[in-house]
Amino acid sequence: MSDYLKMSREELAEEFKSVRHEYEHLRGLHLSLDMSRGKPGFDNMDLSGEMFDLVGNDTGFKNISGIDCRNYGGLDGLTELKTLFGKILGLQPDQIIVGGNSSLNMMFDTIAQAMTHGMGGEPWCKQDGLKFICPVPGYDRHFAVTEYFGFELIPVRMTPEGPDMNAVEELVKDSKVKGIWCVPKYSNPEGITYSDEVVRRMARLKPAAGDFRIFWDNAYVVHDLYDEGDRLLNIYDECLKAGNPDMPLIFASTSKITFPGAGVAVEAGSPNNVAMLKDRMKYQTIGPDKLNQLRHARMFRTVDDVKRHMKRHAAILRPKFESVISELVKQLSDTGIAKWTNPRGGYFISLDVLEGCAKRVEQLCANAGMILTPAGATYPYGNDPLDSNLRIAPSYPSVEEIKKASVVLCIAVRYAALEKLIAEKA
Ligand SMILES: Cc1ncc(COP(=O)(O)O)c(C=O)c1O
Repeated sequence: MSDYLKMSREELAEEFKSVRHEYEHLRGLHLSLDMSRGKPGFDNMDLSGEMFDLVGNDTGFKNISGIDCRNYGGLDGLTELKTLFGKILGLQPDQIIVGGNSSLNMMFDTIAQAMTHGMGGEPWCKQDGLKFICPVPGYDRHFAVTEYFGFELIPVRMTPEGPDMNAVEELVKDSKVKGIWCVPKYSNPEGITYSDEVVRRMARLKPAAGDFRIFWDNAYVVHDLYDEGDRLLNIYDECLKAGNPDMPLIFASTSKITFPGAGVAVEAGSPNNVAMLKDRMKYQTIGPDKLNQLRHARMFRTVDDVKRHMKRHAAILRPKFESVISELVKQLSDTGIAKWTNPRGGYFISLDVLEGCAKRVEQLCANAGMILTPAGATYPYGNDPLDSNLRIAPSYPSVEEIKKASVVLCIAVRYAALEKLIAEKA
């Protein structure tokens, strides 16, 4: 493709004519496509269907410790799942709390409890002007939780190695800054895995707030698209070495391993943090859904079982990611109007279009029957100051649909860029 930024007004007008023609053709197809949310496809969920035969009258309801999972109790979850998640996250089983169906719910609860009862210090709600660090682009639901509780959301730009640590180190000198959101492996939406250096600098932070916490949301810990997955340094070990064992709160879930909304979530951390969290949880619940935990424990007896399962997911997801990337390369490389990530895992691709064009691309896609995550969603308050970033979620549609959607997306990116460039030359 030629570089749009070097084209004359006449060349741009000529190109626009052909792009508009293509766009009108696509609109005429009355497509109905959705690349908005990171949901697994039905074929991904089918991979876990056997789970429903693993617990029942024939197979029994007891876990390896002989606990009858039909009854109340077991506040922090089944032993075998604590062991399994411990191995996955590089932690001891007693550092793990296996909860309900949603890690986001555990994050929300943890912050809600810190608001009313503190995080080892004065309740956060008694302190004014609280702030939270939000690496951008990032996960809209993280930002929404801290916005809901009244934090000022401070964006910090992501680098190819993780959050800009110079900025983070500076920001934590302010005692009002209580935490940072991190998706350290295959980040949402860029698919970036934090480098060792970023993890070490994160672990060595010396925040002015003694109750500062790193919300280490390892949502995509086993979600490799290729045999050789990204490697992430163990944040807890690094924090321990740095004398900050209580700083990280670690989260994960099986939402994209088994069933979103019907999986199993975990929260983990230092012995101090786990004791504090369990002490709070006992007022909140008599125990989690152990039958669902048992189904998961029987399906995944070892880490190798999880790895085998994730390879099956990858076989479904990889062609979807590759279809998007190949269309981006075909239509947009060398045009100078777009940049994208090419993740090796996770659930998203991040696309940066010409400044001031992301909302227009979203609108053009919508008019051609394709829903994108709203432009701006990857920034605090839904406000991308450059109006440039779009999150592409290729997991849900079929490969055939993804191919069509990628064509629409790229045509829309070119359309919006040409409109802008032509207007600038007017
Ligand atoms: C980074 C991240 N964390 C958490 C979640 C939600 O996890 P859960 O289903 O365990 O609440 C998602 C879902 O897309 C996510 O991308």
